[in-house]
Amino acid sequence: MAASEGAMRMGKYEMGRTLGEGHFGKVRLARHADTGRAFAIKILDRQRILAMKIDEQIKTEIATLKLLKHPNVVRLYEVAASKTKIYMVLEYVNGGELFEKIALKGKLPEKEGRKLFQQLMDAVSYCHERGVYHRDLKPENVLVDAKGNIKVSDFGLSALPQHQRKDGLLHTTCGSPNYIAPEVLLNKGYDGSMSDVWSCGVILYVMLTGNLPFDDENMVVLYQKILKGDYRIPKWLSPGAQDILRKLLDPNPITRLGMDGLREHDWFNQSYTPAVPFDDDDDNYVGDDNSHMTKHNGIPDNPAINQMNAFQLIGMSSCLDLSGFFEKEDVSERKTRFASNYPPTYLFEKIESNVINMGFQVQKNNGKLKVIQERKGPTNPRGHGSLLISAECLRSMNLFMLLS
Ligand code: ADE
Repeated sequence: MAASEGAMRMGKYEMGRTLGEGHFGKVRLARHADTGRAFAIKILDRQRILAMKIDEQIKTEIATLKLLKHPNVVRLYEVAASKTKIYMVLEYVNGGELFEKIALKGKLPEKEGRKLFQQLMDAVSYCHERGVYHRDLKPENVLVDAKGNIKVSDFGLSALPQHQRKDGLLHTTCGSPNYIAPEVLLNKGYDGSMSDVWSCGVILYVMLTGNLPFDDENMVVLYQKILKGDYRIPKWLSPGAQDILRKLLDPNPITRLGMDGLREHDWFNQSYTPAVPFDDDDDNYVGDDNSHMTKHNGIPDNPAINQMNAFQLIGMSSCLDLSGFFEKEDVSERKTRFASNYPPTYLFEKIESNVINMGFQVQKNNGKLKVIQERKGPTNPRGHGSLLISAECLRSMNLFMLLS
């Protein structure tokens, strides 16, 4: 396929308006010159991909995406490349994003929300069974077609690093973490299937209530809410809907409802007709397929490289309000918080050895450490010498905050 840039044509495709802007480039509406059929073409910038040294990974991911053929997954028909761009010819989904629909109409009736959730789970489990995890399920990736059916886009691609620079820190345009599973935030290494299930739980909550389960203007507070599973389920939801939300939004991935449990859940199973994946050769699409991309047919093992830890989060500080780390000062109890990625035991050992060398004593109790300076002579009303320091470690996002 010859891609002529500048002109509004790419091979047989006449390029139209921009539909959206993704991590690596734009998605544009296109029309096939012979058939008139509409497509969405995702245009990736090769220079950026080469600079990030992810060209091999992109090829593998794209080859995998070509194997996904499901009525609720945006279909990738073909891939072409020019010197400077990679073009992914995708199924065009003309009903917009699911969340535009919710923003316009408000929360969905439970029956409709369940139907869309069943379609979402069909798409997600189909991809999981083929070793493809989304890892970034969020409103922009859930589209709706003209008949009101769900189509999930960008499966697999979100495993690619997004805006990592040489310093290894994430420099994003402040993407919303509202849908990210706690274990992904903790960067502990995680089961892609369980973290996708969490994101689907957040999407279900939004569909049924019209609100986000976890939200805060301050990103640090938002992260803490997600990690603690701090949210409320409205009592006006049916008991079945309340139960499934509680089981999906379990911050512990070990006890969270998985795909198998979900398929046995009564609320999920009401009026459920599982989608039937397409046959391999149902390509009733017309286009040329002399792609310049190398093809790989193996399913990749999807290294989890798009994870954010607390330090990467701080690296995004241009868009991150860190004020939640600091409390208003009470002069009678002056506190300073430090962030460290060492475990509490190590931090306490360090404090202890240093203060003992300085001639202080240490008392440890209930996970707190007190540094005491014993005075020879009368004690002050607080019962100790003139100086009292206490240190406490709070764990947050892989980050130990030392409060002293
Ligand atoms: N925006 C991003 N991908 C799209 C698609 N496949 N169809 C319509 N709009 C989109």
